[in-house]
Amino acid sequence: MTKQEEIQKLKKEKDAVILTHYYVRPEVQEIADYIGDSYFLSKKAVDMPHKILVFCGVSFMGESAKLLNPAKTVLMPDGKADCPMAHMVTKETVQKARERYEDLAVVCYINSTAEIKSWSDVSVTSANAVQIVKNLPNKNILFIPDKNLAHFVAEKIPEKNFIYNEGYCPVHEHMKAAEIRELKEQYPTARVLVHPECNSEVLALADYIGSTSGIIDYAANSPETMFIIGTESGVRYALQQARRDALFFFPGTEPVCEDMKRITLDQIIDVLKNGSSEMKMEDGQANAAARRTLERMLELAQR
Ligand code: 13P
Ligand code: SF4
Repeated sequence: MTKQEEIQKLKKEKDAVILTHYYVRPEVQEIADYIGDSYFLSKKAVDMPHKILVFCGVSFMGESAKLLNPAKTVLMPDGKADCPMAHMVTKETVQKARERYEDLAVVCYINSTAEIKSWSDVSVTSANAVQIVKNLPNKNILFIPDKNLAHFVAEKIPEKNFIYNEGYCPVHEHMKAAEIRELKEQYPTARVLVHPECNSEVLALADYIGSTSGIIDYAANSPETMFIIGTESGVRYALQQARRDALFFFPGTEPVCEDMKRITLDQIIDVLKNGSSEMKMEDGQANAAARRTLERMLELAQR
């Protein structure tokens, strides 16, 4: 039996479904039941009838799935896969802003720990941040942890006052604008599609800025046949599936999220067989607050 066949068999036996992010290895995306961006995955996690959710992504994704589905078993194939940005804000930053601005809304990117979510008023993803923040009644917005997404959202909503935090995604922050420029010189007709976690110099070169799903949808529906992609290179798999006739170019220093790439087929087989690496979330006040922050996102994103 191949590893792929073994996973299919175990999934049926255990009543499990496999959810994966676009940044995981292609062979993991290939066996997934659902592949998506953070927003799609958080919505999907709520809809699944299965007893077990196998979450192929980093820990904040598994935490969010568990918070939204406390009765379900959430298995993380690699319990150490973590997003460094998800930790990049202190409670002091939030407290200080709350003291200073009476009508403050603390908006946390879903790429944050459950603890950070518990200090926040609403969660957002890159796919829904502009829509949600625009519709908040508050004028003052502390946007945590990502400074790049915060600036991108702030530019779209000039009527609000943004307070920034210094967090960033190392993969997107360190992308080199010079490498994107080189690609543009080589392929002048190519469209440049980038993720809002990128630094401002890279964002300035973009024809389109959006979440991983946004980038894939743009390429899927575009009449163009060449694209320069400014996000983690795991999206190549979905892009090629969507557009077999198109060419996709990534920066010379390939953007790779080492944490997302930790997840392997062997680990998936292992957690399915043994029920190991379960995401556990205590039933306390902090996690209840984190759950409300996520539920508020799901509610506001639908308006
Ligand atoms: P999206 O999938 O929401 O675009 O986010 C990208 C990301 O960095 C996830 O960790
Ligand atoms: Fe975190 Fe960046 Fe990896 Fe996404 S790509 S999980 S933001 S480190």
